[in-house]
Amino acid sequence: MIVCSCKVVSDHKIEDAVRRGLKWKRLVKETQIATGCGVCARHAKSIFDKAKANSSGESQAERLPMFSAGSASSPKEKRCNEKRKSR
Ligand code: FES
Repeated sequence: MIVCSCKVVSDHKIEDAVRRGLKWKRLVKETQIATGCGVCARHAKSIFDKAKANSSGESQAERLPMFSAGSASSPKEKRCNEKRKSR
């Protein structure tokens, strides 16, 4: 899917850049993504960040503590996790 229509950059190209270890600034320099009208900037960065998080081997539970039932730190979190488990 094309993320940046001004510079014709796809989500696959962003994900490929992450796999190659590119930083956001380098990706922008190489592709010129988000340097036209700028409308795509937030979405493109979000795709970049998600791809980077996935490539680093983090699971969703590690990134989002609310999904990790065993690591609740507050009583409220523990109650929420117990409710979630019982569903
Ligand atoms: S759509 Fe990406 S800069 Fe315009």
